[in-house]
Amino acid sequence: MNPAFELKNVSKKFKRSNGGWSNALSGVSFKIQSGEFLAIIGPSGAGKTTLMRLLNLTLRPSEGEILLEGQNPLNLNASSLRKLRTKTGSIYQQFDIVPSIRVIHNILSGKLPSWSFLKSFLSLIYPIDITSVARVAEKVGILECLWEKTSKLSGGEQQRVAIARTLIQNPSHILADEPVASVDPSRADSILILLKKLSEENKTTLVVNIHDIALALKFFPRIIGIRNGKIEFDLNSKEITKEILQKLYEGDKEFQYESLNKLKNI
Ligand SMILES: Nc1ncnc2c1ncn2[C@@H]1O[C@H](COP(=O)(O)OP(=O)(O)OP(=O)(O)O)[C@@H](O)[C@H]1O
Ligand SMILES: [Mg+2]
Repeated sequence: MNPAFELKNVSKKFKRSNGGWSNALSGVSFKIQSGEFLAIIGPSGAGKTTLMRLLNLTLRPSEGEILLEGQNPLNLNASSLRKLRTKTGSIYQQFDIVPSIRVIHNILSGKLPSWSFLKSFLSLIYPIDITSVARVAEKVGILECLWEKTSKLSGGEQQRVAIARTLIQNPSHILADEPVASVDPSRADSILILLKKLSEENKTTLVVNIHDIALALKFFPRIIGIRNGKIEFDLNSKEITKEILQKLYEGDKEFQYESLNKLKNI
């Protein structure tokens, strides 16, 4: 079987406003198998979000190749590309949901990429496919909030809305960029437990950018460390040591080194 994702010597450059270039990623190669759980860690500006956006095909590599289930998206026509894109569901730190509308409409918006214009338009007037919405809302534990205005929900509940919106798309792969960074630390565990449980049930690939190392080590068997746009390590979480983490975050002003002493089992 083809890997879910394969990166071959991928680089991504961005043009800066002063005319120079920033090398967000350089020479990155690795594979992610379908159904794998993987966390990506590294200092601020290392290239983690850029990597996510390359994986979900919102960015194109400047050099190298990305294959999704063995296919190069650059070789596909518009309709095959659309189909390939809907295989991946993305969850962002800021949830990316519309606060002023009801929860049910936010969840349904996950269906938009696969619906015709007319169906999408009608769903704004009256939500169609309520059964699917109820099914995913129940799975993430927000069934009773369906008709609430989304802004009335807590941070953790809003993140669950974002997860439900991804689930309704029935993705084969879930990418989450700092999914717990905007929720109360005490709720972060339950969001990750939920994401993992749902991914196990549906045999979904789960790739998460996460700045909390303790959570990365607790929930993910494979950890990739990125620094200055390059892969520093790609290891089983059991192989990670304090020295490896210190090297990864060396010079990062925001990193709290004393947090390494609190880590268990390393
Ligand atoms: N659209 C863009 N235009 C110019 N530079 C960009 C753009 N997007 C990212 N970069 C640069 O690429 C580098 C990597 O950014 P990226 O957002 O991928 O880092 P990150 O690892 O996600 O950081 P953080 O942990 O702070 O979220 C940074 O130097 C950033 O300034
Ligand atoms: Mg980021």
